[in-house]
Amino acid sequence: MRLQDCYSFADFRELARRRLPSPIFNYIDGAADDECTYDRNTRCFEDCDLVPNVLRGVQNIDMSVEILGQKLDMPIYCSPTALQRVFHHEGENAVAAAADKYGTLFGVSSLGTVSLSDVRRRYQGPQCYQFYFHKDRELNKVMLENAKNANVDIMMLTVDTITGGNRERDLKTGFSIPFKLSLNGIFQFAVKPMWAFNYLIHEKFSLPQLDDHVDMSNGPISIGKYFTEMLDPNLNWDDVSRMVEYWDGQFCLKGIMSAEDARKAVEIGCTGIVISNHGGRQLDGSRSPFDQLSEIVDEVGDEIDVIMDSGIQRGTHVLKALSLGAKAVGGGRFYLFALAAAGQDGVERALELMKQEIERDMRLMGVSSLKELTRENVRYR
Ligand SMILES: Cc1cc2nc3c(=O)[nH]c(=O)nc-3n(C[C@H](O)[C@H](O)[C@H](O)COP(=O)(O)O)c2cc1C
Repeated sequence: MRLQDCYSFADFRELARRRLPSPIFNYIDGAADDECTYDRNTRCFEDCDLVPNVLRGVQNIDMSVEILGQKLDMPIYCSPTALQRVFHHEGENAVAAAADKYGTLFGVSSLGTVSLSDVRRRYQGPQCYQFYFHKDRELNKVMLENAKNANVDIMMLTVDTITGGNRERDLKTGFSIPFKLSLNGIFQFAVKPMWAFNYLIHEKFSLPQLDDHVDMSNGPISIGKYFTEMLDPNLNWDDVSRMVEYWDGQFCLKGIMSAEDARKAVEIGCTGIVISNHGGRQLDGSRSPFDQLSEIVDEVGDEIDVIMDSGIQRGTHVLKALSLGAKAVGGGRFYLFALAAAGQDGVERALELMKQEIERDMRLMGVSSLKELTRENVRYR
């Protein structure tokens, strides 16, 4: 199977599965507990059908959107994700370059494996910094200052990870950071030699946003343990309100799921929210963002930018979310599997296919601009 054989999310996932050592594939592919929420995140789009209109002259298609003060050429962006150089040696640079080429937003994670300021210098497209709020307040201050100095467009604070989700696949495979070789890991090197070769000959693994502050010398830790031991479970609305004031720019909360919290986000001055359950990786049994979208749009849709992520695999998913009132959507695994499969070429192909799908689907829906999509375009079964 080659990159040219990939046409869908399922194809990229399969190619990634073939190329990655299994602990790494399962880290990307896995979710919390029984993975019910993960499963629902995509399945929920099937409960809602699109209702097209015809004969509307749809030669010229405009799929641009404006969110958080940035114009995006397409309505889906690359949601911030951790550890990208472990998935493919080109890591965040590949994703940033591809997002830049397609004129969409890219986010550097607090657990990113390249430096935020380096990426900002290299790529001019819209960028956000995904912030994890640590127990160490000094570290938080330095991270905020670094992001300000790097001239990042958007601060995106993730609020659904104050403790680690129960990712049982990682417990079983022993996936940890820094990626260390257990006996099983050595076996994985042997069966995936290309990945192993690239991992060894390219720049050593590091977490530039955290390296000066977080002591990893006590050995590798699981991602769940990082969240539980290092992130602040006392994080509250007052802390975030102070952060919003200090940042004094586009500020977005990622991981909002209730209309009540969306209202609070407006009250403390956030300019956007991402309705998200972290791709099902945190609270299994939590509702899916698409199921929760209308309720939140009705509460705050006129006041701040309502965005959603989790479960997006197709252009039609994007159009359904925008019909319900989302301003844009984020995706994680849709570009991560492509990155793991083929680096920058893979991410570009995933974005290109998604762009083609959205364009084709807009024509079939009878809309030439995304602003024309309304709730009249969808019906629930
Ligand atoms: C492998 C992986 C790593 C992730 N790392 C982060 C992270 O560092 N920070 C964060 O806020 N979200 C992280 N996420 C969540 C994504 O930003 C996004 O919310 C999620 O992937 C959306 O679901 P989807 O994968 O179904 O599109 C991660 C997701 C995955 C799959």
